Amino acid sequence: MEKVLVTGAYGFLGKYLIKELVENDYKVIAFGRKKEEFEKLKQKNVDIYIGDFCNKKDIVNASKSVDYIIHAGALSTVWGKREDFINTNVVGTKNVLYACKQNKIKRLIYVSSPSIYSGKADKLNISENDFDDSNRLNYYIESKILAEKEIKATRNIPYVIIRPRGLFGIGDTSIIPRLIKANRKIGIPLFNNGKNIVDITCVENVALALRLAIESKKAVGNTYNITNGEPREFKEILEELFNKIDEPPKYLRINLNFMYGVSSIIEFIYKMFHIYKEPMITKYNICTLGYSQTLNIEKAKKDLNYKPKMTLSEGIEKYAEHYKRNKIL
Ligand SMILES: NC(=O)c1ccc[n+]([C@@H]2O[C@H](COP(=O)([O-])OP(=O)(O)OC[C@H]3O[C@@H](n4cnc5c(N)ncnc54)[C@H](OP(=O)(O)O)[C@@H]3O)[C@@H](O)[C@H]2O)c1
Repeated sequence: MEKVLVTGAYGFLGKYLIKELVENDYKVIAFGRKKEEFEKLKQKNVDIYIGDFCNKKDIVNASKSVDYIIHAGALSTVWGKREDFINTNVVGTKNVLYACKQNKIKRLIYVSSPSIYSGKADKLNISENDFDDSNRLNYYIESKILAEKEIKATRNIPYVIIRPRGLFGIGDTSIIPRLIKANRKIGIPLFNNGKNIVDITCVENVALALRLAIESKKAVGNTYNITNGEPREFKEILEELFNKIDEPPKYLRINLNFMYGVSSIIEFIYKMFHIYKEPMITKYNICTLGYSQTLNIEKAKKDLNYKPKMTLSEGIEKYAEHYKRNKIL
C-alpha cells in the first residue's frame, strides 16, 4: 500500500482528501498541529503525525517512509501579517521541499490557488500561464506565487501544482458562511446586477484531482487549473443556493469602482495602523465578487483524466440539506 503524507489534513480540503485517498487504497499520514483535533481523524489506514511544517525537523521526520506528499496546509485567508504568510506559505513550502529531497519522495503535489489570477478586470478562460507573477493584490497571493516559484526552481523533485478555484462544500469556513452572514446582516454585495461569471469547485472534485495528480504519468512538472467546469452568473448561483436553504437572498447593489476605492482606503488605514483583524471588505473580495473569472481546465481533463464527480447543483443540494439539518455555518 502506498503512503501519502497530507499537510493541512484537518483543514477543509484535507478531510475530503483523506477520504478520497483512503477509499482508493492509500495509507495516509495526516500531518498537522492540533493534537486534540487530529485524534478525530484516526481511522483504518490513517496515521497521525503532530507537527508544524514551519519546523524542518517535523516535516522531515514525518515523511521518512512516505511515497508522496500532498502539501495542502497553508495560511489561507485574505488578510494578515505579511511575515506570517511568508513564513507559513513560502518558508513552510521550502521545508516540505527539503523533506522531499531528504526522503526521496516520489512526487510532491502542491495545492496553490487561482487567486494569483485575481485583479481589477474580467478574465475569462484563463489558462495556467496567464498570470502576472508580480501580482500583489494581497499577501496570500504573493505567498502562493513565491511558493510556486520555489517548487519550480527545485531540481530533482517530481512535482505537480494544482490550482483549485473557490472550494465549496460542507465544512467550508470561508465562502458560503461569509455570504450567509452578509445576507442576514446588510445583504450580499452585488455589482453589475450579479452578471459576473464565477467558476467554483465542489471540494470533492478537488480531492479527486489531487489523487489523479499522484497517479497521472503525464502530470509531473506541470500546473493545473481545477474547477467544476460549470461557469455561471454569480447571481444565478446565489439564487439557487439561498432558495435551497430557505433564506431568500437580499442584495446590496453597489458600484464596483466606488467600492474598490473604498476598500483601497480601508486597506491603507489598516496597514498604516498595523491592524491585522480582517477588514469588512478588501480589494481582493471586491475583485472576486465583482469581476468575472473563469478557468480553462482542458489541460487537467487531458493529462489527469479529470472529470468532476459532483455537479454544482448536486453540491448545492448537499450543502443545503446539511445546513438546514444543523443550522451551523
Ligand atoms: N478554500 C479555498 O477556497 C481554496 C481555494 C484555492 C486554494 N486553496 C488552498 O487549498 C489548501 C487548503 O485550503 P483549506 O480551505 O482547506 O484551508 P484551511 O481549512 O485553512 O486548512 C489549512 C490547514 O493548514 C494547516 N496549517 C497551517 N499552517 C500550518 C503549519 N505551519 N503546520 C502544519 N499545519 C499548518 C492549518 O492548521 P491549523 O488549524 O493548525 O492552523 C489548517 O488545518 C490551501 O493551500 C489553500 O491555500 C483553498
